[in-house]
Amino acid sequence: MYKSIIKVLLLIFISTSIYAQGGMWLPNTIKGSIEKDMHRLGMKLKAEDIYSTDQNSIKDAIVQFGGGCTAEIISPKGLLLTNHHCGYGNIQRLSTVENNLLKNGYWAKSFEEELPAKGLTVTFVDRIEDVSNAIMKGVSDNMDSKISQSIIDKNIDSLKKATAIEDYQVIEIKPFYYGNKYYMFIKTIYKDIRLVGVSPESLGKFGADTDNWMWPRHNGDFSIFRIYAGKDNLPAEYSKDNIPYTPKHYLPVSLDGVDENDFTMIFGFPGRTQEYLPASAVDQIANKLDPARIKIRKAALDVMEKHMRKDEATRLKYASKFAGIANYWKKWIGESQGINQVNAVKKKQEYEQEFKRIVAERKDFSKYRDILPKLDSLYNAYEKYNVAINSIYETFSRSNDFMRVMSYLNRLKKYYNNNGAAGYNKFKDRLLPYLNGMYKGLDITIDREVFEALIKNYKKSMSPEFVPKSLSNLSSDEDFAYFAKSIYNSPFTDYDKLKRIVDTTDIDWAIAQMDKDLAFNFAGEISKISDELVSPKTNELETKINSLQKKYMKAQMDVFPNNSFFPDANSTLRVTYGQVKGYHPRDAVYYEPVSHVNGIIEKYVPGDYEFDLPQEFLDIYHKRDFGNYTDKTGEVPVCFIATNHTTGGNSGSPTLDANGNLIGLNFDRVWEGTMSDLYYDPSICRNIMVDARYILFIIEKYGKAKRLIDEMKLVHPKR
Ligand code: ARG
Ligand code: GLU
Repeated sequence: MYKSIIKVLLLIFISTSIYAQGGMWLPNTIKGSIEKDMHRLGMKLKAEDIYSTDQNSIKDAIVQFGGGCTAEIISPKGLLLTNHHCGYGNIQRLSTVENNLLKNGYWAKSFEEELPAKGLTVTFVDRIEDVSNAIMKGVSDNMDSKISQSIIDKNIDSLKKATAIEDYQVIEIKPFYYGNKYYMFIKTIYKDIRLVGVSPESLGKFGADTDNWMWPRHNGDFSIFRIYAGKDNLPAEYSKDNIPYTPKHYLPVSLDGVDENDFTMIFGFPGRTQEYLPASAVDQIANKLDPARIKIRKAALDVMEKHMRKDEATRLKYASKFAGIANYWKKWIGESQGINQVNAVKKKQEYEQEFKRIVAERKDFSKYRDILPKLDSLYNAYEKYNVAINSIYETFSRSNDFMRVMSYLNRLKKYYNNNGAAGYNKFKDRLLPYLNGMYKGLDITIDREVFEALIKNYKKSMSPEFVPKSLSNLSSDEDFAYFAKSIYNSPFTDYDKLKRIVDTTDIDWAIAQMDKDLAFNFAGEISKISDELVSPKTNELETKINSLQKKYMKAQMDVFPNNSFFPDANSTLRVTYGQVKGYHPRDAVYYEPVSHVNGIIEKYVPGDYEFDLPQEFLDIYHKRDFGNYTDKTGEVPVCFIATNHTTGGNSGSPTLDANGNLIGLNFDRVWEGTMSDLYYDPSICRNIMVDARYILFIIEKYGKAKRLIDEMKLVHPKR
C-alpha cells in the first residue's frame, strides 16, 4: 500500500519536474518563476546579473555572430569566442592555396597580425522591451488576418519612428507566441571584426560528417576573433587605427570544469523551433515531410560520395556542398526517429485530450472548442502541398545546381517580360557574379547524375498532378538516363557560354536562345507547377494555419495557467538552462557526459579526411603536455553534454556555470534528441559543447598563443 502511494507520488514528482525542463526564455522575462527554477537547479546568479538595463550584465558579453551564430566576449580587450564552423566562411575567404588558414590553422602573434574579416559583423542587444500593447492597438480577435496584419505593420512603423536611438543603433520588432506578443530589440552592430586564432580543420572539424550530430564527440569546434572599435569605443568601419573594443562585460573562464548534474546555462540566438504544433502536424513532419526530404538528399549524397571517394580533387571541390546537404539530412533522420522513439505524437494527443476535456467543461472556454478539429483538418489539407513544395525545392534547387541556375534564368526572363531591359539588367548584374562563383564549384557530370537520380525519385514519390509531362512518359532506367543527357546537352552547362548568351544588349536574342533550350523549358515546367499548382494553395493554407495557431497558443496559455510557455525560437536572444547529464540512447547503452583527449586518439585514422590529426598534436599528446587543463581522469576533457534546450543558431553560444563563468562552447545536439525543435524530451535531448579547458589547452599548447590566455580572467569557482 505505502509502496504504491510512494510510487504514485514519485511519478507525479518526476512528471512535473520533467515538464519543467526545456525552454528558451527571453532574458528580460526570467525574473520570478524561471529564475526560481534556475535556482532550484543550482544557479547562484540573480536575474539582474543575466539581463539588466540599469547595470552591466552577462547579456553585454553575448553577440550574434554574422547572420546565424552566436559568440561571446572573453577578455577586457574584446576577444571573441565562437565555433569553428561559424567562422568557417570567413576563414575560408582569408585563405589562399599558398596560405591555407583553414587547413593549417592560424594564430596571430600580436594585434597587428589579427586579420580583418571583411563583411563580418557582430550584434549586441542593448535592450528588450515588451511592446505588445502598442503593436496590437486597434487589433481585435475576430478581425480578418489581412486587416489586422496591416494595422500591426503600421503600428510597428510608427513605434520605430517614435523610438529615439543613437545613429549606430538599429531597432527590430518581432512577433512572439504566434503574434500574441511583440518585443522590441534595440541593437548595436560592430563592423570591424578580426580573426585572431583558429586551429587546423583536422582539430576544429575533427570527425566531420561521420561524427556530426553524434555523441560521443571529440571536436574542438572553436575559433577566436576580436571586435575592433573607433577611438570612442563605438562601432566603426574597418580602419587600421581602430582599437580593440572594451566590453561592458566579459566572461571569466572557469578552470574547474563540470561534473554530472552541475547547473549549466546557454545564452544565445536560437533560430527556429515549433513546439506548439498539434499532434497531427508533428506526425506529418516526422512521418511524411522528413522521410521525403531524407530520401531526396540521400539520393544526391550517394552520387556525390561515389565521385568524391574516387578522386581527391573532386572531394575537395564538393566537401563543403556535401557537408551542407549532409547536415540536415542527418538531422532529419534523427528528428524523425526521435519523435517516434519517445512517442511524441501520442503524448501530444494525450495533452490535446486534456485540453479538450477542460475546454468542454468551462463555458468561458467554449470559443476554443473548434480550434483543434479545425487545425487538424487544415494540416490534413496542407500535407500534400507541404511535401510537394519541399520536394520541389530539395529536388530542383537545393541538391541540384544546374536546375537552380535554370530556374534563375526563367526568373530573368520573367523580369524582362515584366520590367523590360532595366529589370533584366538589374537581375543579370546580380546573377552573373554569383553564377561565376557557383560554376567554379560545380562538376557537371556529378550534377547530371544527381539530376538523373532525383528525377527518378521525384516521379516515383510525387502525386501525378505535380509531375511534369516530360517526366510522366519516362519509365525505364534508360529513359531517365537519356532524358538527363538531353537536358544537360545545353550551352548553359558551361559558364562562359552562359555568360556569352545572357550578357548581351540584344536581350530578345538571349531570350530566344533560352526558349529553344530543353533544360530551360524543363525548369520552366517545374516553376509553373510550383507557382500555379502548389504555392497559391500552400500560402492560403499557411495563412489560415498561422492565425489558428495564434489562437491555439493563447488557448493553451489560458487552459493550462500553471504551465510555463516559452516563445518559439525566432533568432532573438534567449537563455536556456539545464544540467550536465549522460543519457540512454537505446536499451542497455549509457552515454557518459564527458569525453576526453584519449578518445581523440582512439578515433585517429592516419590519412583519413575526417579523422586524421596534425603531428604536433600527437606529439603534445604523447608527451602528455596537458598543463593544468586535466580533470580527475588525468586527461584533458574535450566535449560534454547537458539538458539545455538549444537549436541551430545556438552554435557558438557560451555555456555558463552557476556563477556565470564560461565552462563550454555550444556547437551541436545529440542525434537521438534532434526532435527537440518539435518536442523536447529531457530523457534524450542533449546539447553538445566543447569544454573550456580543451579550448585553453589548444590555445596554449597547440597554438602557442599564451598571450590570449593572459588576456582572460581564469577562475576556480569550485575551490
Ligand atoms: N550539426 C552542427 C550544426 O548544425 C554542425 C554543423 C557543421 N557542419 C558539418 N557538416 N559538420 O549545425
Ligand atoms: N550546429 C548548429 C548551429 O550551427 C547547432 C546545433 C543545433 O542545431 O542544435 O547552430
